[in-house]
Amino acid sequence: LFARPWSFLRGARGMGDLPDAGPLEVAFAGRSNVGKSTLLNALVGQKALARTSNTPGRTQELNFFVTDTAPIVMVDMPGYGYAAAPKKTVEAWTGLVFDYLRGRVTLRRVYLLIDARHGLKANDEEVMNTLDQAAVSYQIVLTKTDKIAPSALETLLAETAEKIKKRPAAYPEIVATSSVTKEGVDALRAELARLAAE
Ligand code: GTP
Ligand code: MG
Repeated sequence: LFARPWSFLRGARGMGDLPDAGPLEVAFAGRSNVGKSTLLNALVGQKALARTSNTPGRTQELNFFVTDTAPIVMVDMPGYGYAAAPKKTVEAWTGLVFDYLRGRVTLRRVYLLIDARHGLKANDEEVMNTLDQAAVSYQIVLTKTDKIAPSALETLLAETAEKIKKRPAAYPEIVATSSVTKEGVDALRAELARLAAE
């Protein structure tokens, strides 16, 4: 599955721009700057596939990535919760994210990325509400674990597990990742391979 290369299929600015519904899609969602594009690159082992940046608001479209070697599409999403962009822009990105999460028939799994330094925020809860209502399965992925102490990570894992316990579409297991140490990257790859093989 992760035989290279993966390539950019297209970017969508609105629901009218989406590629035709084809193979199953997995999407990377989360607040701005949480590390969505970086994790996607780590998974495929191609540093510059999805564009990343130190400043929030880098990914501005739904970006679809494909490979000839497997019937699976990975979707890098714009982040939400970025206050510094113009209001209209933020509304457009957020609207697109929610519309896609609610309405894409081929969407099979959402990886909801949470910065391990910050934990779940109100807008992450809103995303989970949407996914629970739409019955789209999702898994929490903590990012940037290299930036916190192991004890803090343990606490966060326990707290987060407690918060998602009653959510119907949430996976109970939480994955801790770092694109620096590559913690969790192999585990996620294995799971994607399993999904693609179903
Ligand atoms: P938007 O597209 O703006 O929503 O951001 P994004 O979620 O795609 O984040 P991106 O992948 O662009 O990463 C944001 C910043 O965080 C970059 O400077 C990355 O190098 C950094 N980063 C991402 N993952 C990690 C990680 O696991 N550890 C550390 N230390 N930094 C990370
Ligand atoms: Mg991005």
